[in-house]
Amino acid sequence: MKYQHRTIGSHLYLVDEIGSTNTELLEKADNYEHGAVLCARKQTAGRGRHKRDWTSQNGGLYFSVLLKEQKDIISTYPFVLLSALAVVRCIHACSSYGVAIKWPNDIYINHRKVCGILAESSTRGNMSNIVVGVGLNVNNKVSHLTGLRNPAVSLLECSGEKVDIDYLMERIINELDLLYADFVEHKFSDHLPELNRLLYAKGQEIELALGDKLRTITPLAFTPDAKLLCEEKGSTREIFLGEM
Ligand code: BTN
Repeated sequence: MKYQHRTIGSHLYLVDEIGSTNTELLEKADNYEHGAVLCARKQTAGRGRHKRDWTSQNGGLYFSVLLKEQKDIISTYPFVLLSALAVVRCIHACSSYGVAIKWPNDIYINHRKVCGILAESSTRGNMSNIVVGVGLNVNNKVSHLTGLRNPAVSLLECSGEKVDIDYLMERIINELDLLYADFVEHKFSDHLPELNRLLYAKGQEIELALGDKLRTITPLAFTPDAKLLCEEKGSTREIFLGEM
């Protein structure tokens, strides 16, 4: 079998502590290669969506992937969703049931958030650098935390067993690399059946934060261009990541 070098994780940087892996790759993209992965044991200024903080104590997995010279962030939405799929595939061993992807790309186990993903871009001329940051609760304890928008859980809290975090990271990056190849070859739709089996609250009414508003929607399916088909106030519509 021919050995193929991976694109995602071809360069892997591991640091003990950093402000935010997303901020570092966005602001210093010139120092990193396309596909570089920056992983930190701890973040002191971890960021989540909607300008929220992302608590990033030791024991969690915090990493970001840099995609250089992309057309725009919208065309990379399929890859962002595939990043969630990569994580789900690798955590199934810790919790084989109750795992779901809540729009846009949060991962839940039994209605508690175990992973969040933040995609950001910086544009220069007509090209953008995209950073996809993954925060996964692994051996850190989070289920006691109050004041979170969504109840949280870690893999340790789900299975009662400590996880080898470096091994898990390696597996997620390998999976991400395989899915990246499909993204590049426009094969995102091949993964729709699996993604739609994983869709959180399919056919059930939930409240979702869209922009700064809380809206009541019924998720129906992911679409071939990585949007969410849903029902809202009796009509069917599509939501895209940019609306979040
Ligand atoms: C969310 O659900 O709000 C997204 C959370 C994303 C957190 C990760 S941790 C690694 C990367 N660096 C950051 O500052 N944020 C992302």
